[in-house]
Amino acid sequence: MGQSIAMSVQQHSELELLGIWQRGQDLNELVAAADVVIDFSLPEGTELVLETVVRHGKPLVCGVSGLNERQLAQLVGASREVPLLFDRNMSLGIAILERSVQEAAASLGADFAVQVSEVHHVHKKDAPSGTALKLGEAIASSRGETGTGAVQFEVKRRGEVPGDHEVTMTSTTERLTFAHSVTTRQVFVDGALAAAAWIIGKAPGRYSMQDVLFSHPNS
Ligand SMILES: NC(=O)c1ccc[n+]([C@@H]2O[C@H](COP(=O)([O-])OP(=O)(O)OC[C@H]3O[C@@H](n4cnc5c(N)ncnc54)[C@H](OP(=O)(O)O)[C@@H]3O)[C@@H](O)[C@H]2O)c1
Repeated sequence: MGQSIAMSVQQHSELELLGIWQRGQDLNELVAAADVVIDFSLPEGTELVLETVVRHGKPLVCGVSGLNERQLAQLVGASREVPLLFDRNMSLGIAILERSVQEAAASLGADFAVQVSEVHHVHKKDAPSGTALKLGEAIASSRGETGTGAVQFEVKRRGEVPGDHEVTMTSTTERLTFAHSVTTRQVFVDGALAAAAWIIGKAPGRYSMQDVLFSHPNS
């Protein structure tokens, strides 16, 4: 993701790539000079990124999945100091899917059993995927449940699959299915760059792709 984002930034004449942070390098200098920081490392890297953006008061777009509770708490703390967009999926399609399943789950009620299935490439480190958990949390909250509530997860790892998610809602008499497939990971890159452009100048707070895609342009 980091390499793809760097390549895309270079293709946008209105964007300038100040640098790419690599393990072992000092992050302070880079962050101090940047208008916005994009983090697609792994949870351990995110801890240092959060600390550094807060130190320098810079906006952050973070797409890292698999953060533990302590890291999520650190992220929430950082969002009180700087504008921080955290989303475990940067695609428009998943944002629409999230809204749709939330609405469906709220209308159908708890009689319907919900399952979120995901298929990803074999290199993926976290399971279930951050997107599956995000969908599960959205569904559970719309039914008044905490965390991922009674949502069941199914995880498969196969080849180089960029990301398939399917949500099924089943009663004893019918089944409703929602599905989303990523055809290229460029969708995440485009989303991250749109988020980065959007968050510059925003007030400190926690934002998501729902804010980028569905909020009023002047808000
Ligand atoms: N939100 C979204 O839409 C979305 C989409 C795709 C992926 N993701 C998430 O984004 C993250 C990255 O995905 P990926 O597929 O690009 O993973 P990846 O290929 O494993 O790349 C992770 C990168 O982070 C670096 N890194 C890891 N730990 C670090 C640390 N402690 N300090 C500095 N750098 C560190 C790695 O450096 P080394 O090479 O030195 O190990 C590597 O360059 C994952 O959490 C993934 O789930 C999110």
